[in-house]
Amino acid sequence: MRFQDKVVIVTGGASGLGEATALEFAKEGAKVAIADVADKGQAYSDELNSKGYDTIFVKTDVSKEDEIKNLVSTTVEKFGKLDVMFANAGINIEADVHDLDLASWQKVIDINLTSVFLSDKYAIEQFQKQGTGGVIINTGSIHSLVARDGLAPYSASKGGIKMLTQQVAARYSKEGIRANAIAPGYIETPLMNTLSQNVIDSLVGLHPMGRLGKPVEVAKTVLFLASDDSSFISGVTLPIDGGYTAV
Ligand SMILES: NC(=O)c1ccc[n+]([C@@H]2O[C@H](COP(=O)([O-])OP(=O)(O)OC[C@H]3O[C@@H](n4cnc5c(N)ncnc54)[C@H](O)[C@@H]3O)[C@@H](O)[C@H]2O)c1
Repeated sequence: MRFQDKVVIVTGGASGLGEATALEFAKEGAKVAIADVADKGQAYSDELNSKGYDTIFVKTDVSKEDEIKNLVSTTVEKFGKLDVMFANAGINIEADVHDLDLASWQKVIDINLTSVFLSDKYAIEQFQKQGTGGVIINTGSIHSLVARDGLAPYSASKGGIKMLTQQVAARYSKEGIRANAIAPGYIETPLMNTLSQNVIDSLVGLHPMGRLGKPVEVAKTVLFLASDDSSFISGVTLPIDGGYTAV
């Protein structure tokens, strides 16, 4: 098992991509801290533990600095160290610039981008304390790379994640810390409920594979980036998009 005795934090771990990734890490032997603002993360952690996996739920609002600090310290208290930070939690508020109010802009930037800064910051501090190096994976989006109508704050936040990831890779690779981002296309998760069926149908047509992605397809890519199989990869924003950004 590739992650035997490894300790992993998954933010947004109660649903969608985080939920699927927490399971894949657990199946490969990792101890997993599931962080989410939603209480259902506790039931998910209990369910995984009843199957013999080793997880905890740490209720966390990822946009709050003290809560991210608590997430890392609670994880280290419980499992003794940290090896992988998967900074994944995020939201979407559909708006274009002319009809976007400042509060909505700020909310998306706080939850999608500031959260990644905080998650990376406190993971790096812990890796430095341990002297072990570590791995960071940040969840961007195809909208880190290409724009679409209605996604002004979302695209801005996800574009920021791409460059933050490159900055972290450039600065901390010499300390044995690898940082990469993933850029999923449209994946069948509850986040898609924010979009109308018409929009979803049209999005399917933008993926050359002619379908949306599945959470497990993202999860398996995250595990690849977290594992030694990707030991010379740092600073990339990797599309997982059925060809969306190829055309
Ligand atoms: N589903 C897609 O098509 C898609 C595509 C590209 C990128 N993404 C990104 O993947 C990530 C996960 O999305 P998903 O599709 O799994 O969505 P989801 O809504 O299924 O899951 C997101 C999780 O994040 C949690 N969350 C929201 N705000 C939070 C906060 N402030 N603190 C802690 N947790 C919070 C939610 O409670 C939820 O459990 C997001 O960053 C999203 O932007 C999703």
